[in-house]
Amino acid sequence: MDVDLKIENLSVYFGQKQILDSISFEIPARSITAIIGPSGCGKSTFVRTINRMNDRFDDFSHKGSIIFDGKDVLSNDYPVEELRKKIGMVFQKPNPFPKSIYENVVFGLKIHGVKDRKILDETVKSSLESASLYDQVKDRLSMNAYKLSGGQQQRLCIARALAIKPEILLLDEPTSAIDPLATKQIEEVLEQISKEITILIVTHNIQQAARIADYIAFFYMGKLVEFSKAEKILNAPNEKLTDDYLTGMYG
Ligand SMILES: Nc1ncnc2c1ncn2[C@@H]1O[C@H](COP(=O)(O)OP(=O)(O)OP(=O)(O)O)[C@@H](O)[C@H]1O
Ligand SMILES: [Mg+2]
Repeated sequence: MDVDLKIENLSVYFGQKQILDSISFEIPARSITAIIGPSGCGKSTFVRTINRMNDRFDDFSHKGSIIFDGKDVLSNDYPVEELRKKIGMVFQKPNPFPKSIYENVVFGLKIHGVKDRKILDETVKSSLESASLYDQVKDRLSMNAYKLSGGQQQRLCIARALAIKPEILLLDEPTSAIDPLATKQIEEVLEQISKEITILIVTHNIQQAARIADYIAFFYMGKLVEFSKAEKILNAPNEKLTDDYLTGMYG
């Protein structure tokens, strides 16, 4: 098993309040790891810490490390811009920019100074294809992205993230705001891209984790209770807490 991210004794605090408590596990490369656990257990805080989205809170602090490419992404000598090129993120609510479909996909490339029309065109096509959206939008790439359906907007956000060729894609409940059919399309996209990209997805939906996850991490009150292969967690978890959660003893 190739390891992509090594989480070592990660604790996170907002002010005096401890949100994550000594989390340690290794996220396998080129597979899907789902993070599950009750509301408020720290799932979003965890993924947002990985790509340094919590830096903007003055009262954020941490202990421990997240090793990626041999370096600690939380240390100040890991440049955030470099990190975000390698670790992309997709959120719960689709958040396209109020721009054309084309401009949404190439946004990151343009920021990084790519101007070559041919490269931009090719990236738009390949990224939209990977996100299973190309055929539906190829004749209207100049249309405003807001005119797409919610599910299409979310796939556009995935295409936008893929355009910069990340090594890791973080997704925080990416399908909780869209319907079952659109959810299925996104799950198929994730399974396909996980052959090349490491996927870390937060989900409230155990069925979704069962459908797509190779590995599952169960969080409870800021702690990692259990991390294992998905079948193991779902069928024979080691911890009673995990079992209670999966059998619906608490939300
Ligand atoms: N910027 C912040 N400042 C202070 N507390 C925060 C901040 N962000 C999150 N928290 C707290 O951290 C805890 C964990 O929140 P988080 O959003 O990570 O949970 P979650 O597992 O993603 O929940 P949900 O399933 O409802 O999305 C909560 O108690 C929350 O209030
Ligand atoms: Mg959350």
